[in-house]
Amino acid sequence: MTEQSPALDNLLTESRSFPPGAEFAGAANVGPDVYGAAEEDREEFWAEQARRLSWDTGWSRVLDWSGAPFAKWFAGGRLNVAYNCVDRHVEAGFGDQVAIHWVGEPGDTRDITYAQLKDDVSRAANALVSVGVVAGDVVAIQLQMVPEAIVAMLACARIGALHSVVFGGFSPTALRARVDDAAAKVVITSDGQYRRGKAAPMKANVDEALAGAESVEKVIVVRRTGDALEGATPWVAGRDVWWHDLVDAQPAEHRPEAFDSEHPLFILYTSGTTGRPKGILHTSGGYLTQAAYTHHVVFDHKPGVDVYWCTADIGWITGHSYIVYGPLANRVTQVVYEGTPNTPHEGRHWEIIQKYKVSIYYTAPTLIRTFMKWGADIPAKYDLSSLRVLGSVGEPINPEAWIWYRDTIGASKTPIVDTWWQTETGAIMISPLPGVTATKPGSAQRALPGISAKVVDDTGTEVPPGGGGYLVLDKPWPSMLRGVWGDDERFRDTYWSRFAEQGFYFAGDGAKYDTDGDIWLLGRVDDVMNVSGHRISTTEVESALVSHPAVAEAAVVGASDPTTGQGIVAFVILRAAHTTDSGGEDAVQELRNHVAKEIGPIAKPRQILIVPELPKTRSGKIMRRLLRDIAENRTIGDVTTLADSSVMDLISAGLNTGK
Ligand code: WT7
Repeated sequence: MTEQSPALDNLLTESRSFPPGAEFAGAANVGPDVYGAAEEDREEFWAEQARRLSWDTGWSRVLDWSGAPFAKWFAGGRLNVAYNCVDRHVEAGFGDQVAIHWVGEPGDTRDITYAQLKDDVSRAANALVSVGVVAGDVVAIQLQMVPEAIVAMLACARIGALHSVVFGGFSPTALRARVDDAAAKVVITSDGQYRRGKAAPMKANVDEALAGAESVEKVIVVRRTGDALEGATPWVAGRDVWWHDLVDAQPAEHRPEAFDSEHPLFILYTSGTTGRPKGILHTSGGYLTQAAYTHHVVFDHKPGVDVYWCTADIGWITGHSYIVYGPLANRVTQVVYEGTPNTPHEGRHWEIIQKYKVSIYYTAPTLIRTFMKWGADIPAKYDLSSLRVLGSVGEPINPEAWIWYRDTIGASKTPIVDTWWQTETGAIMISPLPGVTATKPGSAQRALPGISAKVVDDTGTEVPPGGGGYLVLDKPWPSMLRGVWGDDERFRDTYWSRFAEQGFYFAGDGAKYDTDGDIWLLGRVDDVMNVSGHRISTTEVESALVSHPAVAEAAVVGASDPTTGQGIVAFVILRAAHTTDSGGEDAVQELRNHVAKEIGPIAKPRQILIVPELPKTRSGKIMRRLLRDIAENRTIGDVTTLADSSVMDLISAGLNTGK
């Protein structure tokens, strides 16, 4: 028996199913009839969903697919995204409703109402205009989870500028690549951030990133750590300005202008199969429609009643769609937490849920598995009875973690929604509906109403129930990506060339149908790894490794990991000159740090193995499958296509003797 990834354990034998409770189903936002209605007339269905929003000008066409794969949704319509997320709730009389219960890592808190949010966003919009930002400009944001991050995103949306949020854990090199790729005019960051109880610098890293960056005219700095951080915040006179100096002085009135439904809203970089991250482009009307609709039905969200908490970071798409745009468009009251889940103690999340009576909680399998490791006695100390819907996102959830989540956190009754989607899809695509679906541990189950997904074989033919293959999306959807920033060819190539004949979107995930026709996601089929729900490409890590002078060659694989889903394992050949003096542990440590410096700490290999050779085919392609066998302690598979079949013996022998 080979060891399987946590995502796949029990998967073939799993047969439990949990129908929704009658009470939940009776009060749910949608019933089982919603699938049929959507099927009958997809465009009318999506038009109906778009009417959740306030439009300045109605659309003339729901979908214009004539320029496929570049879609136009709600063509001719005009709206302001920030107005939809903020102002209209104030105008409807909900100005006093709390939009954000913000919890800082050190324990400071802020409650922000919709009326306050409107003032804050308006001031920030005026501030951006005052430094010369106009519609179509790009603003890069590298901020931890502080309210200003959300305000900054909405301020961009309000004036038609695109934001490009860069996760706080990315290195200066990674930030710079993103700033340059989109020629960002302004960068918004903070002096420092609290992480695991300590203040760490942020602005210093941004300065390092921006040295000589020609496009950047202004850097706006939120004061967060202040005196907690040693030394003065590094400052570039003329370029840098404090957020509080610039924004607080602005008037709280700003008239939102309506933009075309297809006006770009944001760029978000994600890893692909090459070393260069791609800027995924999302636009306004269709994106907001699907973000709001899915948040409404998948989480059964009731405005003014529920307290919602999505634990993602705004550096990822989950933060964009399910902290900022979908929830706020739906007049959510939500928790936003700045810090790590074990600061100052491992019950921090449960303490927050108890305090704010959180009713909808959305997190990632890797965190659920971490909670399991910490022990069920920790959540048991808190009152979690307010919870009524639990969500999962980012990677396949193994049945064991799913059951633990339901039993230990959800009192053995809370529906779990396992939501499959991607940066590229913009919003949830495959998920149970909590009041409708009999849920199955480990399965995302079925495309949402209005969405169409299939599992197909190599030729693009749908596989029968019980069969496995590739996941494709066979019909356009409102929040689909509108391209890769500055690279139409890469857009076509990556997503639309694999099943060009059929016109399917290729998601890059393996999947299977069970005998009921429900979908089970099986992980990536390309060279993309999923580490703690973060997407990292093997090539990206390999490029980082070979950029170190001691490295001659490197091959990286994702090996199954009981907590993080996958862990990064690198096989490295050192240059002859380095093998003797910096070999062994020192070299490994140095290389791990080098990767952290090049990409960010999230890309640090779990393990680096120094090897004399790499297994290659006769055409020179590295056979990662064999390296994965080693990384996962399996018997090594078929080596007959190797150019030199003794290579694997050489590698194994070296590893066994620890050399
Ligand atoms: C990849 C997309 C979706 C927001 C966070 C990640 C994997 C995501 C699931 C799920 C199985 C999942 C896929 C996908 N993935 N959700 N519920 N079950 N796999 O966004 O960084 O763009 O990554 O995450 O492999 O392709 P992302």
